[in-house]
Amino acid sequence: MDSESRIADLEEVPDDSTLLFTVREGFDEKEVLLVRLNGEVSAWRNYCPHWTDVRLDKGSGAEFRDGELVCTRHGATFLPDSGECTYGPCEGATLEEVDVAVDDDGVYLAGEDYEFDHLGPKSDRDLSSGRIGFSGN
Ligand code: FES
Repeated sequence: MDSESRIADLEEVPDDSTLLFTVREGFDEKEVLLVRLNGEVSAWRNYCPHWTDVRLDKGSGAEFRDGELVCTRHGATFLPDSGECTYGPCEGATLEEVDVAVDDDGVYLAGEDYEFDHLGPKSDRDLSSGRIGFSGN
């Protein structure tokens, strides 16, 4: 595993929440969440299959209930290891998987589809502080 694809230390991935990171696909940034269950780590694109503009992890970790990932918008629940929606308006749908691998104490992005960019949300999420306002202030 090369250091450029290292996402985080294994111990940084919480058992009852998620760790958010951003990958690149060409010029596009995409958010991905890491979950850990019984020592196994899975990664899912950070959107709900019901409404794809709704993020499961809004930047401080997704909600978990009884060991399942929860979309707080309409209450859908997902198995953290298979991504399957077990309850809610998208029951039977599956989260979009991203390939990751664990090597020693690190979690790495695997596969050719994406390049690891940074931990945390997409960088274009809050550009307001760096912009010049139209009010002249
Ligand atoms: S947007 Fe997630 S359950 Fe509706």
